[in-house]
Amino acid sequence: MKLLITGGAGFIGSAVVRLAVDRGHEVVNVDALTYAACLDNVASVSDSPLYAFEQVDIRNRDALDAVFSKHKPDAVMHLAAESHVDRSIDGPGDFVETNITGTFNMLEAARKYWIEADKPDTFRFHHISTDEVFGSLPNDPAVKFTEDTPYDPRSPYSASKASSDHLVRAWHETYGLPVVLTNCSNNYGPFHFPEKLVPVIILNALAGKELPIYGDGANIRDWLYVEDHADALLLVVEKGVLGRSYNIGGENERTNLELVRTLCAILDKKRPKASGSYTDQITFVTDRPGHDARYAIDPTRIREELGWQPSVTVEEGLEKTVEWYLSNEAWWSALQQRHGVGERLGVKA
Ligand SMILES: NC(=O)c1ccc[n+]([C@@H]2O[C@H](COP(=O)([O-])OP(=O)(O)OC[C@H]3O[C@@H](n4cnc5c(N)ncnc54)[C@H](O)[C@@H]3O)[C@@H](O)[C@H]2O)c1
Repeated sequence: MKLLITGGAGFIGSAVVRLAVDRGHEVVNVDALTYAACLDNVASVSDSPLYAFEQVDIRNRDALDAVFSKHKPDAVMHLAAESHVDRSIDGPGDFVETNITGTFNMLEAARKYWIEADKPDTFRFHHISTDEVFGSLPNDPAVKFTEDTPYDPRSPYSASKASSDHLVRAWHETYGLPVVLTNCSNNYGPFHFPEKLVPVIILNALAGKELPIYGDGANIRDWLYVEDHADALLLVVEKGVLGRSYNIGGENERTNLELVRTLCAILDKKRPKASGSYTDQITFVTDRPGHDARYAIDPTRIREELGWQPSVTVEEGLEKTVEWYLSNEAWWSALQQRHGVGERLGVKA
């Protein structure tokens, strides 16, 4: 299968690119290389004859048309987005332009290409989205996000992703474009950009800095190992039912404080401090404005219809992640120099 993957130099996109090439798919990685991108993320496959890279901004419709006619993909996996909630609070404009207008451009470029190819029903436009479009859940284990949960986005980031989901569904209903959608929970794992919670905690711990926890740390997230997510995404693009959406979760709900304590315990074991525990560095900081209390995915549909389930618990996945950061200092220390990384963002609401 020839896959056109947008955002393939980012965190999740690069995991999909690596796995797809390893499984013998041809991949065209389309990425503008924003502050969040790093081509080292795909270095393990970039010399493969199955891999091609196009530095293209999805806000540029003409450039997208050229990519489609040059590469003639069998399917699109659309991951390119502005992804950091804190940055969306400080500068929502980029999120509207890339996540909404960029997705509109992707849909129109894909539709033109699909029509010119006589509308093959084997073509797929797979939109990768987030569980944050569903809003915030009460702290009740019986209540989880299903594919039928009404949308209730509450940050500029999640509102932009909700808008793009609606556009994708509309292009299916109105124009018949063969789409599938996925909404996933919080990812973590290797190559996670060092502004997100898990890498921030690991790297601050190693640097002897404070480990900042927003509010009281009681916010609950459902943690999904990025390589499990990539596996689920390839399954959906190959076997997902047309027009259908699938929730993808790790079945690993933890409070932020529990997650940070687990990371500290792993680090205490793998890189012990001269004295004390990394938990001594935990500090509670001003909460994010509009911080959603709980996200939790009910993954019944993808499990029962497509036979997918996560391969690791959050403790196993975090252990692999810590090992990866301990072995890849050159990768993360270069990214720590980028604009805004290491600063507290998103507090001026
Ligand atoms: N990280 C998570 O936990 C999570 C959870 C749910 C959903 N998602 C979704 O998964 C997708 C990937 O997330 P991620 O964490 O890998 O993001 P990321 O920020 O690590 O990577 C995004 C990539 O998109 C590229 N990009 C940004 N704007 C672009 C533009 N205008 N044109 C072309 N390329 C552009 C960047 O250069 C970068 O390589 C996003 O759509 C995000 O909304 C992420």
